[in-house]
Amino acid sequence: MRLLIAGPPGAGKGTQSTRISALLGVPHISSGEVLRDAMGTDSRVGESVRAWIDRGQLVPDELVLSLLQQRFSAPDVVEQGYILDGFPRNRRQARLLRYLDPYRSVEAVIRLVVPTSVVRERLRRRGRDDDHASAVRVRLAEYEDATRPMLAEFSRAFAMVTVDAARTVEEVTSRVLAGLRKHGLIKGLDLPSRYAGSALGNDA
Ligand code: AP5
Ligand code: MG
Repeated sequence: MRLLIAGPPGAGKGTQSTRISALLGVPHISSGEVLRDAMGTDSRVGESVRAWIDRGQLVPDELVLSLLQQRFSAPDVVEQGYILDGFPRNRRQARLLRYLDPYRSVEAVIRLVVPTSVVRERLRRRGRDDDHASAVRVRLAEYEDATRPMLAEFSRAFAMVTVDAARTVEEVTSRVLAGLRKHGLIKGLDLPSRYAGSALGNDA
């Protein structure tokens, strides 16, 4: 399966990707994680990535693409597909998507919708290195200016699964799965029994 997951900082992209990846056996690729790994290397690339992330700014498109490309040629991604978390984040990156997986297309986009007040509180509690006030302000602005307009265009190109991500982690997962089922991408009966509750298949 080949999925994108998008939403503002703190929407739960990583949390939901981890769960969906485990449930459906699809590798989770997070652009933020790939960049944080690069940041951990003692190199000029690592240093500049750290500076962008610490300010909350988007890292240049080509650099993100080149760091992600390697992961896409790994056997598990070739075989199982992916849930891609955090890429693309602007219209230009959306056009670059085809260089990641040239012969296959994305099957659905999961869009997590959540009020800014909720994500501010989640990020304040978590306290990752880039969760300080000025970076959060810039990350939210990048989402509004670059990512939201891109997502508005996606509904013409992709099957969209739009979910209220202010609900509990479990409810959000159930609604994502229900949305995927609605688009014919999974069959309810394939899911482990603990997910076969009333929230599945209803109103995602
Ligand atoms: P990235 O790592 O992608 O950060 P982000 O988009 O700001 O999102 P977060 O990871 O903070 O939140 P999330 O939506 O994953 O939520 P999570 O599950 O963690 O990017 C970091 C930086 O890298 C960017 O600012 C940029 O500099 C750079 N970058 C990345 N991709 C790039 C790209 N494509 N191009 C250029 N630059 C790029 O949850 C957050 C918290 O909320 C957690 O504590 C979690 O436990 C909690 N939580 C989650 N869901 C719920 C729930 N339903 N109820 C209650 N709490 C919840
Ligand atoms: Mg994340």
